[in-house]
Amino acid sequence: MRLRAVSGTPATVEADVLAVPIYREDADMTGDLAELDAAAGGAIADAMTWGEFNVLEHACTLIDAPALPAGRLLLLNAGGRGRGAWRARRLAQVATRRLNGRGARSLALWLRDGEDRDAWSAAASGAVAGTYRSTDVYGRVRDTDAMKRSVDEMLVLGADQAALDEGAEVGEGLAFGRDLSNRSANDLYPERMAEVARGLEADGCAVTILEPDEMERLGMGCLLGVGQGAAHPPRLIAIKLPGWESAPPDRRLAIVGKGVCFDSGGISIKPSESMGDMKHDKSGAAAVIAAARTVARLAPGTPLMAVAPMVENMPGGNAQRPGDVVKAMNGMTVEVTNTDAEGRLILADAMTWAEREGATHIVDVATLTGAQAVAFGDQVSAYFARPDDWGQTVGRAAEAAGEWFWEMPLVAEYRSSYDSPHADIVNSGSRDGSLIKAAVFLSEFVTVPWVHADIASTAYLTSDKPYGPKGATGASIPTLVRLALDFAG
Ligand code: BES
Ligand code: MN
Ligand code: ZN
Repeated sequence: MRLRAVSGTPATVEADVLAVPIYREDADMTGDLAELDAAAGGAIADAMTWGEFNVLEHACTLIDAPALPAGRLLLLNAGGRGRGAWRARRLAQVATRRLNGRGARSLALWLRDGEDRDAWSAAASGAVAGTYRSTDVYGRVRDTDAMKRSVDEMLVLGADQAALDEGAEVGEGLAFGRDLSNRSANDLYPERMAEVARGLEADGCAVTILEPDEMERLGMGCLLGVGQGAAHPPRLIAIKLPGWESAPPDRRLAIVGKGVCFDSGGISIKPSESMGDMKHDKSGAAAVIAAARTVARLAPGTPLMAVAPMVENMPGGNAQRPGDVVKAMNGMTVEVTNTDAEGRLILADAMTWAEREGATHIVDVATLTGAQAVAFGDQVSAYFARPDDWGQTVGRAAEAAGEWFWEMPLVAEYRSSYDSPHADIVNSGSRDGSLIKAAVFLSEFVTVPWVHADIASTAYLTSDKPYGPKGATGASIPTLVRLALDFAG
């Protein structure tokens, strides 16, 4: 999709469709909206009086506006003002998605609120994301060409072109990451993900793939233990941007993503209900690989490394058993009380390895706990930080990138729920507080400034929404890109 900054007014912009957010504050139509309404012959006021905006947030309605050069208006029910980049991204996403399969080639967007570089960039990535099709990887006969049409140009009123260009690149990264998350486990297993990562050499990255014998030598007992039951052996993927080697020694960011290609739970097997969704348990890995590719294209000099421990968590004759004791790369012994708490095990060794490679700051992203999904739902990701100021840096990046992240407390007092009678730590505490406790477990395996983001609820949608189809969302990719770019600057 082409993204173009345009000057001029909404009443004169030429496009197939003009998208106009209607904010809660617009109830008594005044100012800029009243002007457009007058030019449109009262069509907006008419829709408002009729009650079109008393309904659900994200609802949008397409009306004819023959008096305007843009022949149609897409009125977006936007909710309250003041949500910055998050709102811009969401509006653009809903707008382009609403037009998929329709005849519109060009869309003009008039944000009307909080317009700045972050908002324009988020609108651009959102617009590209709204055209994403989850059926393109495997679909052969599903959709006709007419159904595959989407907006191929978006004009953003008053925007800054550089911000749009950056957002468009993030939009490409989102599509790349979503495809990886959506791909099925019989297709995208650890070795295949390693091949995908190798593809980033074309973007100038240095790609290292560790195989099991190397993991053995390094003492990655946690990662190997999770992977030992699967027919597909584990891999550890590391992608270093060109800027990694030349970075100042105190400024190297590692983004570490949970890469469980399929999480059956292992011997502590999950119920069959929606087990198929667990192909998305590699969404953290997909996100860090996609973010690395995006940053490599935008600013290759960024001191960034993506690390993705890849496994399949499967039951079987060689699978890890509850009660097994493994030794982590950092020297700690872990009693595996629940083989379904596998994400923290593979992240533990991956973060130790990242530090050994010189990472001075770490952000891990993971579909780590069902408790995060129960607590937050599909709109908000949870994160934990140590120390606070690194959390603030990551929180600001999320806000600027238009993602909704909410900080949770790292409660050191919960460490005792991991006491083992046999080893240094167990891998699964009690159910209460398990979102927080998962982060407490991870905290034992990091010594540098660190943020843990739990994206269990946001990584994929369990049904179609106005802002995206069922399946992967690319959650955390915009934030990781923003963070890396800011970190470099
Ligand atoms: N991948 C799951 C978490 C998950 C569940 C993500 C549902 C998305 C939707 C993770 O590996 C897991 O199984 N976590 C367990 C941990 C427990 C055994 C301590 C959980 O949250 O139930
Ligand atoms: Mn699990
Ligand atoms: Zn898992």
